[in-house]
Amino acid sequence: MALFIGVDIGGTKVLAAAVSTTGRVLRTAHRTTPGRRVEASLIEDALTEAVEELSTTRRPSAIGIAAAGFVDVQGERVRFAPHLPWRDEGVRARLAERWNAPVVLDNDANCAARAEIAYGAVGHSQYALVVTLGTGIGGAVVIDGAVHRGHNGMAGEFGHMQVVPNGQACECGGIGCWERYCSGNALVRFVQANGGRQDITGPEITEAARAGDPVALAAFAEVGEWLGVGVSNLVEAFDPEIVVIGGGVSAADELLLAPARVALRATLVGAEHRAVPPLVRASLGPEAGAIGAAYLARERFRSAGTRA
Ligand code: BGC
Ligand code: NA
Ligand code: ZN
Repeated sequence: MALFIGVDIGGTKVLAAAVSTTGRVLRTAHRTTPGRRVEASLIEDALTEAVEELSTTRRPSAIGIAAAGFVDVQGERVRFAPHLPWRDEGVRARLAERWNAPVVLDNDANCAARAEIAYGAVGHSQYALVVTLGTGIGGAVVIDGAVHRGHNGMAGEFGHMQVVPNGQACECGGIGCWERYCSGNALVRFVQANGGRQDITGPEITEAARAGDPVALAAFAEVGEWLGVGVSNLVEAFDPEIVVIGGGVSAADELLLAPARVALRATLVGAEHRAVPPLVRASLGPEAGAIGAAYLARERFRSAGTRA
C-alpha cells in the first residue's frame, strides 16, 4: 500500500504523520521547531529527520508540508512566516530534491481545513471557517466546500487582523494583531504576567485550569473571550454554517470554547435574527494539519509513478 506523510511545521513544534487513505494516523514523529531567528536549513533538517523517522521501512509515495506561513498560490514558495525563518524561499522544490520524493506545500490552517472537510467537523458544510490556535492563529475560509485561497494564496490570515490599535507588537512586524491576544503564546503571557512560572507551557496551563487554578482559568476566560470576539467579526464577514477551532490550544476544549461562545453571541450583529453558527472543536484535533497535508499529497500524486 502507498505511504503518504504529512508534516506540520509550526512555531513551536514539528509533527509528522503517516496517514492511511481513510485519514487515520498510523504513526507520528515529533521534533521541536529550532526557532525563528535560525538558518532556514535548520528548520529543513528538523523536517527531514521527522520524515526519515517515518520512512525507515517504506519509501513515501508523496509528502505534504503544512507550513505556518504564507504559501504562494502555486504551492511552491513560503513567502513569509512570522514564526519561522523562511523569507520567500522555494521550499517545495528544495525539499522534493532533498527527499527524492514528490512534495506538496500549503499553509498549515488550509491543510487542517482540508482534513476537517474530508474526515472531520466541516464535513459537507459548504461555508465554514477554520481557526487554529497554536503559537499564533491560523485561518481558513471554506467556500463551496473547498478552501478559498485568495489571489495570492494568502486568504485566511486572520491572526494578523488588528484588534487593538497601539496594542502589543506582533512577530509579523504589526501592532495589536489578534493572535497576540488569542493563541497559545497569549495564554502563556497572561499566566506569566499574573505571577505564574516564566517557563510555563500551554499544555501545563490547560492542566492547571482543569485542576481549578484561578490564574489558569482566568487566562482561558480572557483568551476565550478574544476568540469569540474575533470569530464574531469573521462570521459577520463570511456568514458560515459552522466555525471549527483547531490547533494545540483547542485541546482545552470547553475551557476555551465556552467563553468564546458567550462572546460570539454577545457581539455578533443581529444575533437574535440569525442562526449563530456553532463553534466546535476540530474533530481531528492538533493532528488536523498533518492529516490534511498527507491528504493533499495523496490527492496530487494518487496516480502511480507520478514524479515531482
Ligand atoms: C501565520 C499563519 C499561520 C498561523 C498558524 C500565523 O502567525 O501568519 O500563516 O497559519 O500563524 O500557524
Ligand atoms: Na490559511
Ligand atoms: Zn501580526
